[in-house]
Amino acid sequence: MTSEAKFLVIGNGAREDAIVQTLQNKNAEVFIAPGNGSRRGIHLPISASNTEELIKFAKSQENLITIIGPEGPLADGIVDKFRDEDLKIVGPTKEAALLESSKLKGLEFMEKYDIPHPTFQSFDNKATALKFLESPPWEKLVIKEDGLKAGKGVYLPSSIEEAREIIKNKFQDGETIVLQERLYGPEASSFAFIYVKDGKAFYVYFTTAQDHKRLKDGDVGPNTGGMGAYAPVELSSENMQIIKDNIFQKTVDGLLKENLEYVGFLFAGLMMTNTGPVVLEYNARLGDPETQVILPLLESDLGNILEKLINGTLKPEDVQIRRGKVAVGVVLAAENYPENPIKGDVIEGIDNIPSDILVSQAGTKMDQEETLTTDGGRILTVVSVEDSIDEARKNVYEAIGHKGIHFRGMQYRADIAKKN
Ligand code: GLY
Repeated sequence: MTSEAKFLVIGNGAREDAIVQTLQNKNAEVFIAPGNGSRRGIHLPISASNTEELIKFAKSQENLITIIGPEGPLADGIVDKFRDEDLKIVGPTKEAALLESSKLKGLEFMEKYDIPHPTFQSFDNKATALKFLESPPWEKLVIKEDGLKAGKGVYLPSSIEEAREIIKNKFQDGETIVLQERLYGPEASSFAFIYVKDGKAFYVYFTTAQDHKRLKDGDVGPNTGGMGAYAPVELSSENMQIIKDNIFQKTVDGLLKENLEYVGFLFAGLMMTNTGPVVLEYNARLGDPETQVILPLLESDLGNILEKLINGTLKPEDVQIRRGKVAVGVVLAAENYPENPIKGDVIEGIDNIPSDILVSQAGTKMDQEETLTTDGGRILTVVSVEDSIDEARKNVYEAIGHKGIHFRGMQYRADIAKKN
């Protein structure tokens, strides 16, 4: 049965465009605020941070469910404000969103509830952090700033001396410094729908994807918001069990014990170490570009899933995945991304690609003459869903370039989902 609800998606990235596309595929009526150059959804000229106007719009609609794409509005407490008005919304309250918006709170929560995590120490001044580094318990470490940093604020020093320089130069006194043991292994992004409210707590596992964060092939170059992804990641039954029992179950149990309300997506950023998955960080939302590859794998109606989640009645059988299918997504980024992306280049070939290739738009703008131009750093995610990674990779890369989608200065990785 198709969902009866209407939806408002908040954000302007490819993740939000993919959410709109997925809901529309099942004939739902979908609004997006503010959106981008994509024609999907009914666009509302309201910024993602203008909670007052978003609430005004939501109150004007019957049976509307609001879905928050980016972390900023969640950290600012948009869910609490919608709830105060009895409006339906997917996401954690401001306090529960601290799992993502404070790196330290996320780690302390994992420690308290025995969820696999890296060992860590926090400091509120540079002198004690530098003293700690005189005899650190780890050979290699990670340094983190505490708040939301849009993918920045994490440092991977190659020596203790470099770590000392980072602390001296990148932090102000009084700022929280988190030092964390450095772990090794492939990273993975695991997603679940979670419900913690009114004394009830459960999760329904969705799937696991792999993101490629560095700009260049071979995982070199600067960190980015993500240059591509594939899903699902194959997991051993032992690792799957750890993700379910020791990560998602313990997280919802912990949230309940802390009396926190969280009805939404939970994204555990994992390191798949030799001894099993460890949570590097929580995200209180869907990932980008992971969303663009996980939503096309969903057999079930996302609208129905979210309605049931909000009602607290979602069951594992409501989240059916297209068995045997894999999705590969490649991000096309602008010239000079991530430092200082050049805007205003015409995007060509988007209407001439095979109909089974999915394209989600991020930094794009459509002008009066219907010309689509670049208007940000990450521009598009191009996705193919096939029976194997090799077929999906072949199709997706054939859709990119001079015979397919292209624009001046376009950057993309040629090794997304490539086996080593
Ligand atoms: N792809 C990582 C993130 O969305 O945070």
